[in-house]
Amino acid sequence: MCKEIVLSLFLVDCVSFCVTYNKYGGYNNVFSWKQVGYDFGGMIYRNSTDFEYKEDAIHFIQELNDSEKFFIQNNNVPIGFEVYKDKVFITVPRRRYGIPSTLNYVQLKHGVPSPLLRPYPDVEKSKTFVSIYRPRVDSCHRLWMVDTGHLEVPGERKQIQPPAIIVYDLKTNQEILRHELDPSIIVNERTSAGLTSITVDVHPKACEDAYAYINDLATEGLVVFSLKDKKSWRLNHQSFRHDEEAMNFTAAGHVITWRDGIFSIALSAPDDEGRRTAFFHPLVSTQEFAIDTSVLKSKAGSLEGHVKLLGNRGPNSQSGSHDIHQATGVMFFANVAQDAILCWNVKNELSPENVVVAAQDRKKLAYVSDLKVIGDNVWALTNQIPKFIFNTQNLNEDNYFIQRYNVQDLIRGNVCEKSVKKY
Ligand SMILES: *[C@@H]1O[C@H](CO)[C@@H](O)[C@H](O)[C@H]1NC(C)=O
Ligand SMILES: *[C@@H]1O[C@H](CO)[C@@H](O)[C@H](O)[C@H]1NC(C)=O
Ligand SMILES: *[C@@H]1O[C@H](CO)[C@@H](O)[C@H](O)[C@H]1NC(C)=O
Repeated sequence: MCKEIVLSLFLVDCVSFCVTYNKYGGYNNVFSWKQVGYDFGGMIYRNSTDFEYKEDAIHFIQELNDSEKFFIQNNNVPIGFEVYKDKVFITVPRRRYGIPSTLNYVQLKHGVPSPLLRPYPDVEKSKTFVSIYRPRVDSCHRLWMVDTGHLEVPGERKQIQPPAIIVYDLKTNQEILRHELDPSIIVNERTSAGLTSITVDVHPKACEDAYAYINDLATEGLVVFSLKDKKSWRLNHQSFRHDEEAMNFTAAGHVITWRDGIFSIALSAPDDEGRRTAFFHPLVSTQEFAIDTSVLKSKAGSLEGHVKLLGNRGPNSQSGSHDIHQATGVMFFANVAQDAILCWNVKNELSPENVVVAAQDRKKLAYVSDLKVIGDNVWALTNQIPKFIFNTQNLNEDNYFIQRYNVQDLIRGNVCEKSVKKY
């Protein structure tokens, strides 16, 4: 019956409409790609191409090495995303050669299942970015991102330009801020490439008084930026470090031996005084930590004595991005160790019984690389990156997915639906 309603009325809304009777089915697909292609202002690239097409350009036939090639399709792995109105931003960090554009967008409304990526804001300006991971939109219609400035090609790593926070006004698509991070935040040559997410702390009535929290998973620290003061600084704490005991989990069928530290920072709703709690965890860890954001805003250096260990999520709960659904207080985790999305109601004690698998899919959730709560939906970008790294990708099937799940659907009947116990 639902199907009929959908066909006649809400073609696009099927996703949010039909979810109620089927929990883990295929209806959640927003996009999927075998491999990505690009639309460069009308120039279409559906396959590897040595040169960017330009009018009147003459190319001599010659063997190019990879660093000179414009588009090496298989090297283009989407890693981060964000949604603003009809635009879905998709990033492709430069971890290999042959990436035409690191910050891109596609449009939702066209309903194309595997759209070509378009450089944001346009072809020319997109060339000012080196490598971007997980951008975020704030409540003031701005897109925030960290350009690591770092080319991460194995064996040929290179810092092209200093890492910077870049902010775009989404109403005008103009760059409104470029802040080179303070050199004191850099621990060593690996730091820049570890700046893989940004969380914006702002009230929509005080847009100029914003703070951004950036994880450094490589040299295991946290960077804070004050928009008002145009200053950035670094914080250190043991809780930002990976846990050797939580290593060697399996993701997308491969054993992961990375030592990634702090990966994601999720904010609670503000309390009566406007203060939020920042929740965070390293990728290689099964613990979750919390800190009052007023401490992040006021301190530099060591956070000794300010971080609270909330508890342990349980075995195989290693997770990347996480985010909170403010209306229900449920936190969702991109659980890479079980190809799943976990949930935990923050009103409950953090213990293995209170953290459950809300969705699992050995393909479409095989390494959720970015996760975000938008309205009453949880969006996830899956890229199966272990398969890319270990060269086991099948180019004839879908490898990259953007999925969308309704929050009520993810928590119905499980321990996340209500608070079981105060602590
Ligand atoms: C893409 O390139 C590969 C290798 O050069 C070729 O085998 C394939 O047919 C091409 N695909 C398309 C759609 O042009
Ligand atoms: C690739 O070509 C560029 C430009 O010709 C050159 O600078 C670079 O050394 C070459 N790299 C390798 C690995 O051969
Ligand atoms: C992870 O694997 C390495 C290499 O096999 C081993 O030395 C280490 O003890 C393992 N750690 C855990 C926590 O399983």
